[in-house]
Amino acid sequence: MKKILVVNPKGGCGKTTITTNLASYYALWEVPVAIIDLDPQQSSLEWLNQRRDHLSPITGIDGSKGKLSTPPDIQRVVLDAPARTTMTQLRKLFESADVVLIPVLPSPIDIRAAARFVADILKDKDLRKTRIGLVANRARENTLIYNNLETFLNKLKIPMVGHLRDTQNYIRAAENGQGIFEMAPYLVDKDMETWKPLIQWIENDHKL
Ligand SMILES: Nc1ncnc2c1ncn2[C@@H]1O[C@H](COP(=O)(O)OP(=O)(O)OP(=O)(O)O)[C@@H](O)[C@H]1O
Ligand SMILES: [Mg+2]
Repeated sequence: MKKILVVNPKGGCGKTTITTNLASYYALWEVPVAIIDLDPQQSSLEWLNQRRDHLSPITGIDGSKGKLSTPPDIQRVVLDAPARTTMTQLRKLFESADVVLIPVLPSPIDIRAAARFVADILKDKDLRKTRIGLVANRARENTLIYNNLETFLNKLKIPMVGHLRDTQNYIRAAENGQGIFEMAPYLVDKDMETWKPLIQWIENDHKL
């Protein structure tokens, strides 16, 4: 079993988008998967409620009151963190996670906030034990702002493990409780490509 925590105290950076798309990817490949929605807003569980019956199943768990356990058959768990997470919660979540993904938007404010978050994590000897990767979301690669972020992160030794495009595909998919992998391939082939390195990094030693 592998637990993937998607976290960033900055609101609106793509935590729920990454959670739901990653879960639907596993579901499509028939890997038993659960989402633990830690956010009292429950956006991931709302997404799951929109999901039609013919789509591959995803187990939804309300983790907003601290529940982190999943049914025994589950092989992948994606945890969608709320924007506000206390240090005590973070400790517990990082400890239980195998992989942490931090989505970052390409704006100076978001990048500075992410830099502070990463610096706080790295200062903490317990938090920094977990495998952490940043995901550039709504990305326009090779822009100056991203180059600055990459340079900064390289110094901190936190890898940038994924770049997801800014596209309506994510919004259209979410309307129906789908991930982009479940949409017509001709619409989303570019986006599916962007997930390949990210999923490879997450899976690391595992074969799906
Ligand atoms: N790559 C993308 N392309 C286009 N729109 C996106 C992309 N990623 C996220 N969005 C949109 O941006 C908005 C915020 O994304 P999302 O809800 O995933 O962020 P969040 O980090 O979970 O927010 P919160 O902190 O409020 O929980 C949503 O409307 C989502 O559809
Ligand atoms: Mg969210």
